[in-house]
Amino acid sequence: MDAAIEDGVNVMSLSLGGPSLRFSEDPLAIAAFSAVEKGIFVSFAAGNSGPLNSSLSNEAPWVLTVGASTIDRRIRTSVLLGNKQVLDGESMYQPKNFDHKLCHLVYPGKDGDKLAASCMKGSLDHIDVKGKVVLCDVGGAENIEMGQVVKDAGGTAMIIANDIDTGVFIRAEAHVLPASFVGYKEGVEIKKYFNSTSSPVASILFRGTVVGTKTDPQVTPFSSRGPNSASPGILKPDVIGPGFEILAAWHESVDNQTGTNATFHFVSGTSMACPHLAGIAALLKGAHPEWSPATIKSAIMTTGSQVSRNGHPIIEQRDLPVDVFAIGSGHVNPPKAHEPGLVFDIQPDDYIPYLCGLGYTPKDVQRIVKKTVNCSKTIPEAQLNYPSFAVSLKRGDSKTYSRTVTNVGMANSTYTIRDVSVPQGASIVVDSHPQELSFTSVHQKLAYEVTFTRDINDKVKGPYGQGHMTWVFGKYTVRTPFSFKFE
Ligand SMILES: *[C@@H]1O[C@H](CO)[C@@H](O)[C@H](O)[C@H]1NC(C)=O
Ligand SMILES: *[C@@H]1O[C@H](CO)[C@@H](O)[C@H](O)[C@H]1NC(C)=O
Ligand SMILES: *[C@@H]1O[C@H](CO)[C@@H](O)[C@H](O)[C@H]1NC(C)=O
Ligand SMILES: *[C@@H]1O[C@H](CO)[C@@H](O)[C@H](O)[C@H]1NC(C)=O
Ligand SMILES: *[C@@H]1O[C@H](CO)[C@@H](O)[C@H](O)[C@H]1NC(C)=O
Ligand SMILES: *[C@@H]1O[C@H](CO)[C@@H](O)[C@H](O)[C@H]1NC(C)=O
Repeated sequence: MDAAIEDGVNVMSLSLGGPSLRFSEDPLAIAAFSAVEKGIFVSFAAGNSGPLNSSLSNEAPWVLTVGASTIDRRIRTSVLLGNKQVLDGESMYQPKNFDHKLCHLVYPGKDGDKLAASCMKGSLDHIDVKGKVVLCDVGGAENIEMGQVVKDAGGTAMIIANDIDTGVFIRAEAHVLPASFVGYKEGVEIKKYFNSTSSPVASILFRGTVVGTKTDPQVTPFSSRGPNSASPGILKPDVIGPGFEILAAWHESVDNQTGTNATFHFVSGTSMACPHLAGIAALLKGAHPEWSPATIKSAIMTTGSQVSRNGHPIIEQRDLPVDVFAIGSGHVNPPKAHEPGLVFDIQPDDYIPYLCGLGYTPKDVQRIVKKTVNCSKTIPEAQLNYPSFAVSLKRGDSKTYSRTVTNVGMANSTYTIRDVSVPQGASIVVDSHPQELSFTSVHQKLAYEVTFTRDINDKVKGPYGQGHMTWVFGKYTVRTPFSFKFE
């Protein structure tokens, strides 16, 4: 990273990271600070340790922390049942010469044998699967290995039914026989059909690449989730971006099974999402060379989207709407990030009182900022001019933080607050004089205060809650998400 700084780069993309660390002990956070100080934007992978809570890497507020979402592309195979039902799944192996006629469908797990249900090695020895389509449940072995077991036993095709925990989340894989990996609900439909007739039949249909699926983006189960452990007063991850089945160039042949020398591969991970955001940051830096790393980050975050292509809230693997600890400010929307209207800027020195307020000694802070620090000024974490809020409230608490926005939109513009949401039991008051932000020039800064209150008569449900507020002027929307911890 120091060498890249020396080279004069504008953007860094780092698809790496370890467990949560104090920033003063974290070489990535320390190196990233030096980069940001020189005006370099730093994008980091959030980690692939989800869906467990507090599973993030790279939690420092001076970097962008990127979670992984699906994209609207499927490598589609469908299951055709004897009752004419068609259920969509995925597989990367789609041979041209496969006969799509309906064959007998067998479910080795129909009598409750767990090993046979997931087509474990040896479990199909006493079951006649020759020339048949075999239904296997995920979980016993890798999906491709299950396919090998089915193929070795003489099966012609395989259907893999997902479990309830990862539900809608399926993958296209390089199977050794015609196959379709279907979601949990589709698996239940297939089992219902299987139960409904004494001679069940099925086939696999190959559909190739399908784009424009309406339920995307979704959050991948592996994408690391908040809350932020190293700095609970900063909401992380910051955003999500494309990180699932990304067609990526590879340094050597990856396809050992079909006798080709393919040097492209579908790869999934926040390691794939992080460079997408670095690329978008590079475009924004190209369009707005004067923008600081914090300005670029703010532009990406305040314009993020919380809905999938069908207009419904973004979902995760169990088909439930995601929370703010999975998507942060939302899914990146590059054209909107190009015109954010207002931004929350942060100067490198602003991180010093923040780090002191986080409880770091002057020596700790010096390790990061590489200059003499005495911590004579401290601020609470949530007082950093961040484009989102992570607020912790005890019963009856009232906490006030200020924010300063810089106008990068139209000179004459008046922003009003729309679309405020807080969980039951909490309330918010935004104090700007008056209740709007009126700008008369570009680069003008205006400040306001936000007060978060928790009822003394507690009615809050969980240990965590979420909300948001949005400043609006014409086409510009500046959205700030909140996470609440109810202590
Ligand atoms: C994770 O956080 C959510 C709130 O966002 C909460 O409902 C859930 O119980 C938490 N899970 C664990 C394992 O802490
Ligand atoms: C199918 O039948 C089996 C055995 O009677 C039962 O355990 C199972 O729940 C049924 N499955 C569905 C999806 O109806
Ligand atoms: C690829 O195939 C060759 C020859 O069958 C084998 O020796 C090698 O181990 C395989 N590599 C991988 C990564 O599976
Ligand atoms: C793959 O590459 C190797 C080494 O370059 C070559 O010998 C082999 O013929 C190639 N195989 C195919 C299927 O193109
Ligand atoms: C602490 O540092 C600040 C900024 O460098 C300086 O203005 C101030 O005098 C210092 N305070 C003490 C007690 O050394
Ligand atoms: C902004 O509004 C003021 C007063 O209405 C006007 O004098 C000024 O020309 C406007 N500036 C721009 C850039 O439109």
